[in-house]
Amino acid sequence: MAEIIVVTSGKGGVGKTTSSASLACGLARAGKKTAVIDFDVGLRNLDLIMGCERRVVYDFVNVVNGEASLRQALIKDKRFENLFVLAASQTRDKDALTKEGVEKVLKDLGEEGFDFIVCDSPAGIEKGAFLAMYFADRAVVVVNPEVSSVRDSDRILGLLSSKTKKAEDGGRVQEHLLLTRYSPRRVEAGDMLSIKDVQEILGLEVVGVIPESPEVLQSSNAGVPVILDEASPAGQAYTDAVARILGEERPMRFTTVEKKGFFSKMFGA
Ligand SMILES: Nc1ncnc2c1ncn2[C@@H]1O[C@H](COP(=O)(O)OP(=O)(O)O)[C@@H](O)[C@H]1O
Ligand SMILES: [Mg+2]
Repeated sequence: MAEIIVVTSGKGGVGKTTSSASLACGLARAGKKTAVIDFDVGLRNLDLIMGCERRVVYDFVNVVNGEASLRQALIKDKRFENLFVLAASQTRDKDALTKEGVEKVLKDLGEEGFDFIVCDSPAGIEKGAFLAMYFADRAVVVVNPEVSSVRDSDRILGLLSSKTKKAEDGGRVQEHLLLTRYSPRRVEAGDMLSIKDVQEILGLEVVGVIPESPEVLQSSNAGVPVILDEASPAGQAYTDAVARILGEERPMRFTTVEKKGFFSKMFGA
């Protein structure tokens, strides 16, 4: 059976799509057959970040409406043969997805032998976000180290523990905290919440801390998820996060201010 992971957050623009793309790539690279689904109806960002936007013929809504089969709509990644993307529809109808439709797609993916299904959620508490989390086994809650993002995440945690199938069946969704756009320098300056602060407020185990880094935007523009940029701190931090999702223990990296050496101080490198 496929394990369903929702990548969710209270606020928009915190790094959900960036994280969904990198986590899905990382899981595929680790040998897991993985599908990543864009639940953000009307926006369609994931295919851009995955670099397959020109190959989108059918989308998630087409499959839900029976206008295309799952096999027709799944876009096979060019880098990993066990990685597939299901793009969001650009329809303006936010109600195009239904609970029954989503359930069938997830079930069919399970029957196709997928190990992981990563659901890239839209922000907030609209229907798309609810559908993205409803069938989840696990949730990666993406949070930026600032008060508004943490507060809105708290609301999402409430929904995960009440409005999901797992919760309705008396169980619970396994929750992970993924801190993104983390800047040790700004934490030290008191402009941002620390990892410990966020962890204490939300009471969640941290599955990864992704540093703020310019390579993220560069990678997105190039259609290459940043996890594949092995030289970048963000890429390495996502690699660690995937390993932790798969049960490995790894120390956190890139969480303290790098002390500059003599030469970089002199020459500003
Ligand atoms: N670690 C990071 N460092 C720098 N920029 C980031 C980082 N993570 C995300 N971003 C940027 O933040 C913006 C929002 O990211 P996105 O993944 O689209 O968020 P969401 O899906 O939550 O709306 C994008 O411009 C993205 O490039
Ligand atoms: Mg997004």
